[in-house]
Amino acid sequence: MISNQERVDSGHGYLPQTIPGRSPNQELLPLTAKVNSRDCLEIGGCDVTTLVERFGSPLYVLDEVTLRTACKQYREAFARYYPGVALPIYASKAWSCLAVCSIIASEGFGFDVVSGGELYTTLQAGVRGDLIYCHGNNKSTAELELAIRAADPFGRAHGCKIIVDNWLELEMLTKLADELSSKPIPIMLRLTPGIECHTHEYIRTGHLDSKFGFDPDGIKEVFAFVLRQAHLDCIGLHAHIGSQIFERQPHEDLAGVMVEWMKQAVDSGLNMRELNLGGGLGIRYTEADDPPSIDEWVKTVSTATIEACNRLGMPLPKLIVEPGRSLIGSACVTAYTVGFRKVVPGIRTYISVDGGMSDNPRPITYQSVYGAAIANRMSAPMAVERVTVAGKHCESGDIVIKNALLPETEQGDILVVMATGAYNYSMASNYNRISRPAAILVHEGEANLIIQRETYQDLIRQDCLPTRLIAKLF
Ligand code: LLP
Repeated sequence: MISNQERVDSGHGYLPQTIPGRSPNQELLPLTAKVNSRDCLEIGGCDVTTLVERFGSPLYVLDEVTLRTACKQYREAFARYYPGVALPIYASKAWSCLAVCSIIASEGFGFDVVSGGELYTTLQAGVRGDLIYCHGNNKSTAELELAIRAADPFGRAHGCKIIVDNWLELEMLTKLADELSSKPIPIMLRLTPGIECHTHEYIRTGHLDSKFGFDPDGIKEVFAFVLRQAHLDCIGLHAHIGSQIFERQPHEDLAGVMVEWMKQAVDSGLNMRELNLGGGLGIRYTEADDPPSIDEWVKTVSTATIEACNRLGMPLPKLIVEPGRSLIGSACVTAYTVGFRKVVPGIRTYISVDGGMSDNPRPITYQSVYGAAIANRMSAPMAVERVTVAGKHCESGDIVIKNALLPETEQGDILVVMATGAYNYSMASNYNRISRPAAILVHEGEANLIIQRETYQDLIRQDCLPTRLIAKLF
């Protein structure tokens, strides 16, 4: 039963609000979302139901305006609050593909990559190596070499910045630097600052149980080692404390302790000049979520850095942040087609869609909650029934949304799940040999394919069938 309070007259409550100062991460739908004269959801000037007819289902629909607006808001906020040099870099793990990297690069961002694959994609998108920061707690020699050489498709070779995670990597890099590079390799040191964030709470501890980064207690030794290496240029410190964070206090505290460690480094003789405070700003997945705006978040990290530098008599470092989710999360929706319905009397009604945990593993992995709308009947009364939206995978836990309040749905309806831009495509799989969906970039009525839908042939492209097995089939 649905209470009167839960029942709403129109399904438009989740359309973006035109309130000044709000940022994309505070919206459920992309900024260009509206209802058109056919009562269908339109994003980037494109009717989502028409996109599904044209490009198939399920479909990721990415709105260029929303993505660019989030980039611009980061840039403008730094210009407003930070008098030193600032560089926002995109945590490409959120969604790495050529078109996304190229849009974000054109907005003046640098890039955070964590693997040879992310590095390769970013370089192929035309990003210069010296704008790329390479992460990873277990980088291979091949990945380090790729980062040091970092040639882009135009033949320019600008080595990447390498964010060193541990002692063994530091030693390995020292050897590689001696062999491979005529000039010192720029590195940063990743620290585990003892600030831990869960979505709605955080703790400060002396030691964190984390696989990432150096323990700050032993950092003096690291500084002394790096100082002795002629082929390493240690330009700064890095820390990342968590993701989908709604509080601002943890990053305020982080800036303070990081500047203190930078001062120790400078006092020990290192020429440190960059401070990277990681990513983490949360987004709105449901109406209950209330993250700070991009402007508020940037103001917090900028002010805290400036205050700590003033207190400790340090010059302002080049300030770097690494947003992923808050740049791209709210810019995308996933459109599915509704299939069969199953009613378990007195317990639950299931409606099934044509995707699920393979295109969005977040609900099954983190119990993440999403909102949905029916794109082909936008003015249908919203909370008419409570249904569980199930995926099509052979796994009971493959639930896209548990107990969603939706209009009445029927087979063939287009169900749109909101805020699926971050960590959906990037964590997608082929479980049950289900093809990964296509992705479409929409902008001012134009729809461009940016990722092709996988075909059945794509699914077997890496399979090898030894001839002796073929022989036994016949
Ligand atoms: N920098 C570093 C070093 C990171 O590890 C991450 C995210 C970021 C930046 C970007 O954080 P963001 O601004 O997106 O919060 N798969 C999970 C999220 C894992 C985040 C991992 N690190 C999810 O789907 O929620």
